[in-house]
Amino acid sequence: MKRDLLSIDHLEDATIRELIDRTVKLANGAPPERRNGRVATLFFENSTRTRISFELAARRLGLEVVHVDHSRSSASKGETLVDTAQTLAAMDIDTIVLRHPEDRAAEKLAKALGPNGPAIVNAGDGCNAHPSQALLDAAVLEHQRLNWSDLNILLIGDVQHSRVARSDIALFQRLGAASIRIAGPEAFMPQSVPEGIQRFNNLDAALDGADIVVCLRIQHERIEAGGAPDPASYHAAWGLTEERAQKLNGEALIMHPGPVNRDVELAGSLVDSPQSLILKQVNTGVHLRTALFEWLVPPHRARPGHA
Ligand code: CP
Repeated sequence: MKRDLLSIDHLEDATIRELIDRTVKLANGAPPERRNGRVATLFFENSTRTRISFELAARRLGLEVVHVDHSRSSASKGETLVDTAQTLAAMDIDTIVLRHPEDRAAEKLAKALGPNGPAIVNAGDGCNAHPSQALLDAAVLEHQRLNWSDLNILLIGDVQHSRVARSDIALFQRLGAASIRIAGPEAFMPQSVPEGIQRFNNLDAALDGADIVVCLRIQHERIEAGGAPDPASYHAAWGLTEERAQKLNGEALIMHPGPVNRDVELAGSLVDSPQSLILKQVNTGVHLRTALFEWLVPPHRARPGHA
């Protein structure tokens, strides 16, 4: 049966475990398996980490990869997303990696294309989900040999507009994190959060006892003009400053899905500090997406012959 990656909630526990374990093995030097097939990266929003790591991962497995530049594609002439995807499928593209500004775009596309359509990978849809980011974040923590039951995880900032926060929270809860906290200005706090998530309106209180601090970028592209705070006052109130970081326990680690705005959500010096896992997250992204293609693309599939 065709597999998609749509959200953390769509994944079975055994699949989550398989993907994380395989990612850690690849990060430790295991050779990638070979696969046949064609992948398209179809990105309606900008990306550095996600797009490039999906493309590198596909090539590691021997998959053919094409990038569809949406601003130069026929999507800009009014073609619907479903028609674009069907056009790609007619060229024997069997996996579409989609980034889209609309919530649940990947899920709707997978439903429209049906069980015989290409596999759909959600590479970030609106404020909804970014499941491959959450999986790579979890793999980074497991690669550090950390135990979920010991981890008090704090996400700071624009939780409301962050698809990474939604997927991280869903995944870290399922993996058994000791506690998950969110902190940020009221305007950036979601209306509802899953049961068990602790909300803080004071950053210093939230940081007390945190083992993992995930800083989030202000998602300006999803905030109405004039609705975002000015960077300096935001940093003073909600940024992870050096002073605040010094109060963390000595083993605490800092994460950020990127792209980082230095000296806004966290001090620039902390990005480059030994506590930072940020570049490790980027590197692990290639391994996670390699594991993902191994899972998505069946082995021994014949290479398409007619196009
Ligand atoms: N983390 C993340 O999604 O980064 P990009 O927007 O660069 O892909």
